[in-house]
Amino acid sequence: MAAIRPLVAGNWKMHGTGSSLVELSTLRKRLAQAPIPEVEVMVCPPATLLTRAPEVLQGSEIVLGAQDCHPLASGPHTGDISAEMLADAGAKAVIVGHSERRMDHGETDALVNAKALAAYRAGLTAIICVGETEAERSEGATMSVVKRELQGSVPEEARAANTVIAYEPVWAIGSGLTPTPADVAEVHGFIRSVLGQLLGNGQSGAMRILYGGSVKPANAGELLYVPDVNGALVGGASLKADDFYAILAVYGRERTA
Ligand code: PGA
Repeated sequence: MAAIRPLVAGNWKMHGTGSSLVELSTLRKRLAQAPIPEVEVMVCPPATLLTRAPEVLQGSEIVLGAQDCHPLASGPHTGDISAEMLADAGAKAVIVGHSERRMDHGETDALVNAKALAAYRAGLTAIICVGETEAERSEGATMSVVKRELQGSVPEEARAANTVIAYEPVWAIGSGLTPTPADVAEVHGFIRSVLGQLLGNGQSGAMRILYGGSVKPANAGELLYVPDVNGALVGGASLKADDFYAILAVYGRERTA
């Protein structure tokens, strides 16, 4: 099987105004000066910057992603944004089912599944997030929670070409805590086996499974080389171009070593 090209996606969450676009242009410059072709780079700014980012990114290989979409293409849904609108703005991917949306907005697996289908309909890659809470982990329920979320959130139509899974333990997000590399390897291996049951081994073997939760320049080297980890979803450390670049650079190390 061909090696999977890793993806590192920056999730800016509800951070950033027009002045933050300077971080994107810095990132772009750093990647132009010292490219890291081993990794695909994506940035998911807030929706208000989606139409402005393409100007900054024009001609670069940084991919633009969005953070959420509505399941429907259009309609009376005040404040919502459809996958088609995101595609029109220049996004190529959309995060769905982030635990912050599951918690803040009561999003269910069924809704996340419908959002992933909306992404496919609009020609976007769906980045589907799963992960257990601290209480679930301490009860020993990590695998059952992850399996339930995958079964409910990943559509039958999911393919390696249109879907990325992000494993984000809720307790690791924004906390500075991370699972051990052995724990990450165990959950990622399990995710790949569940995807195999759901979609067949051909799709599962080629699908990117990202780790997310407190990925920083200091721990990226140990987390990103874990078996079955095909990149990262990065929150806080994606807001500053230098930190984000330092995480990406983990993939250039073999070449420069
Ligand atoms: P963090 O967020 O890197 O700030 O922990 C990750 C995420 O929620 O995607």
